[in-house]
Parts: sequence; C-alpha cells; structure tokens
Amino acid sequence: MNWLPRPAEGCAWVAPSVLSADFSRLEDDLQSMTAAGADFLHLDVMDGHFVPNITFGPFICGALRKLSTLPLDAHLMISRPDNYLEPFAKSGIDGLTIHVEADADVSSTLARIGELGMKRGISLKPDTPLEKILPYLNQLDLVLVMSVEPGFGGQVFNPGAVEKIAELDRRRAAESLEFLINVDGGINGETGPLCREAGADILVSGSWLFGAEDRPGRVQVLKG
Ligand code: DX5
Ligand code: ZN
Repeated sequence: MNWLPRPAEGCAWVAPSVLSADFSRLEDDLQSMTAAGADFLHLDVMDGHFVPNITFGPFICGALRKLSTLPLDAHLMISRPDNYLEPFAKSGIDGLTIHVEADADVSSTLARIGELGMKRGISLKPDTPLEKILPYLNQLDLVLVMSVEPGFGGQVFNPGAVEKIAELDRRRAAESLEFLINVDGGINGETGPLCREAGADILVSGSWLFGAEDRPGRVQVLKG
C-alpha cells in the first residue's frame, strides 16, 4: 500500500489524470509527471454504460503499476463495481473510488474494498447532492468531488464543486474524520487554487497538466 496523509495546511497533492497522457509513449509521459513533482496518479476507468466512453480496466491498471511507484487511485465510472473489485485489488492499485450513483450496495462495496487492502473512495456527479454520500463518510478514505460530468477530459469546471468541498471540509472537522477530499474535472491554475482554499487535499488534472510545456511549473501552481 502506497498512500499519502493529509497535505500540509494550505497545500494540496497533485494527481495527473492518465486519461490525458500520450498512450503511445506512456512510460515517458508518466516519468515526466513524476519528475515534475506529481504525488498520485489518477486512473479513469469507464465502461461505456455508466458514462458514454470506454477507457481501460484492471489489466491496464496492472501494467501502469509497473510503470510508476506513485500511489494509484482508480476512479471507477462503471455501473457494476462489485463485479470487478478482486481484479482491481490484484492489479496492485492503492485506492478504488466508486460512484454513489452506480448500481451497488455502497456500504458493503466500500467494506469489501477495504477488506481487499485498498483505500475506499466515493465520488459524486455535479448534479448529485452531497446528502447522498453523507451516510458513508465514516467508512471513507477519500471523497472525489466531480467538477464536470464524468466521461471526458477537457471540460469546463463547474463552480458548484467549491461549495461541496467546503461543506465536506466542515463536516470532516466537526466529526473528527480523516478522509481526503479530491476534486476532478477542469482543474487548472485558476480553479485548482479555489478548490485548495476551500479544503481540497488532492487536485486531479488531466488536459491542463499533460498539455503543458512547463509541467513542473504547473504542478507547483496546484500544490500551493
Ligand atoms: C472525467 C475524468 C477526469 C478527467 C479530467 O470523467 O474523471 O479525471 O480526466 O480531465 P481534465 O483535467 O482535462 O478535466
Ligand atoms: Zn477521474
């Protein structure tokens, strides 16, 4: 298990979204993100059913495990996460994030993810109210707030995410919980600092980081 605690006050961890990498030269692209100071790698798993796009599954996650020593967090945008928990655990990833909107018994799925030795994450779409995930907060290592509709990189940030992050941060303090707050979608040099100041611990960024000439400079802007 490879994971990180909460970052220092006012700072954030940076998680490049591999969806925006150049898959024809993946090893170089991931090494360049590690050299630039990335802290996690974010792996977007899509099934063509929960979202209208298909990416990769546990087999490719296992290959990515061999290419990087960074903590790997898989974001499952799939309808039936229960059917795939064991293969993801065997792939060697560190965290598994399911969607609250998926077809699953969320509480028992999270418990099973933990039993399999992975960090337990839950994500919610921009239109899903925060109330939907509140019953699970004490079972979580990670909450992934979506700031775009899941499915594709390169979309525009939805500012409603900032209020969700701030509310999660308040509840975390009030209930003495320790989950990390992660935000995903449209993160760049303007939206990233807004989320960080609201309480986000991990900033996921795909197109803005992979599209950069100066990757270390952009990673630093997000870290704070
Ligand atoms: C969208 C994915 C995101 C995406 C982010 O469904 O969950 O992780 O790769 O990409 P950008 O940063 O380009 O919005
Ligand atoms: Zn994602």
